[in-house]
Amino acid sequence: MAVEQRPGVEPTGDERTLTMLRERAFAAMERAYAPYSGFRVGAALLSTDGSVAEGCNVENASFPAGICAERSAVAAAVARGNQRFEAVVIATEAEEPTPPCGMCRQVLEEFSPHLLVVSMTREGREARWTLDELLPRAFTTNSLHRR
Ligand code: THU
Repeated sequence: MAVEQRPGVEPTGDERTLTMLRERAFAAMERAYAPYSGFRVGAALLSTDGSVAEGCNVENASFPAGICAERSAVAAAVARGNQRFEAVVIATEAEEPTPPCGMCRQVLEEFSPHLLVVSMTREGREARWTLDELLPRAFTTNSLHRR
């Protein structure tokens, strides 16, 4: 299966795959550890080989030590040997779909700058972006070589 990614064009995606990712993301959200914010987030990250890695936010009494769902999904995928991603579905209990935070955008950018990012609510609202849209003119590994 392939989720279509065309920079600058609204992604169409494979709706059946997105439904599966939605289920995985909401299941991961149920496992979130968010006693401080009460804002549970789940993420399902689709690799180019078709495998899926889930993540959830894991907070900490030392607040900055917490990690977002999207970055924990990236860590899980990389630990499994996947570094190329097609799509990420983000699940929250918010009323409106929420975009990934800046730090997560940067971490996703490292691996898949044209990633399809889909955010979904429990009630079925959703928003779609490409990572190019969410993080234009990113600092990348190429930037490090322009000294
Ligand atoms: N959070 C995520 O997991 N992903 C995001 O993209 C935004 C924020 C988490 C971090 C924290 O645990 C809680 O949501 C409130 O900010």
